[in-house]
Amino acid sequence: MTNRVGWMALLGSLLAASLAPSQAADASQGLSGEQSLPNRHVYVVQDILKTCSPQKGFWVDLGAGKGQISIPLIEATDNPLVMLDPNAEAMTEGLTTAREKKLEHRLSAVVGVAEAMPFPDNTVDLVVSRGSIFFWDDPAKGLREVWRVLRPGGKAYIGGGAGSGYPKWAVEKLIEGRQRKLKGAEAEKWKRFIELRRPEQMKQWAEAAGLAAFQVMGKGAVSDDPAIGQGVWLFFEKPSVSLSN
Ligand SMILES: C[S@@+](CC[C@H](N)C(=O)[O-])C[C@H]1O[C@@H](n2cnc3c(N)ncnc32)[C@H](O)[C@@H]1O
Repeated sequence: MTNRVGWMALLGSLLAASLAPSQAADASQGLSGEQSLPNRHVYVVQDILKTCSPQKGFWVDLGAGKGQISIPLIEATDNPLVMLDPNAEAMTEGLTTAREKKLEHRLSAVVGVAEAMPFPDNTVDLVVSRGSIFFWDDPAKGLREVWRVLRPGGKAYIGGGAGSGYPKWAVEKLIEGRQRKLKGAEAEKWKRFIELRRPEQMKQWAEAAGLAAFQVMGKGAVSDDPAIGQGVWLFFEKPSVSLSN
């Protein structure tokens, strides 16, 4: 029995070691158990398109990881997209997936961080970011960068969650699982996970960034919201320049 437990622990640490740092953090937080539920990214992509109605042009997936949002987003539209993430390996996986799907001409990757986006001012039409802001060293600085790179009329959709169309039974399972973990051996980690995903926290980051106008949607990691589903999202748009004055 001890041996079996020992092997399980070894396998767990090998798995964690083979993952990117943030993924390893997710795995250690028990998120891997959530992988048995339906994929959430496609539902988030539907909300991005509904909420942002983005103009065609220069789109960025910030903290793109393996392109979990990037790929369904370019599949659902005919727009190209640039992934930005400090994890080159994860993005390489995304590029490989895109090639397998014959989408390589519409997906590219840049290594970098939110806090110093390697793009000129006023050039990006859409910034999307799922499950990433909670890992940024300085979320307010990252949001200021997003504002800087957005072009007038450009939009940002940043946060985390399952998407409003995610099946209700899966939302319930997701929330139940997290509630259970809040009482388990890793309660402190889960408390932190949930705190970072509170709408009040998102509002505080947006205010600290000095965003003039923004909307926080959703109720967080352990609540369902009739409009936006489980999760929390920040939406903002850089105003178009008025020619009348
Ligand atoms: C949980 S993964 C999310 C991946 C993907 N967007 C998704 O929805 O599944 C978080 C990602 O944020 C990235 N990340 C961490 N710090 C970052 C930063 N300062 N700027 C941009 N991305 C960052 C990580 O490398 C990782 O790929």
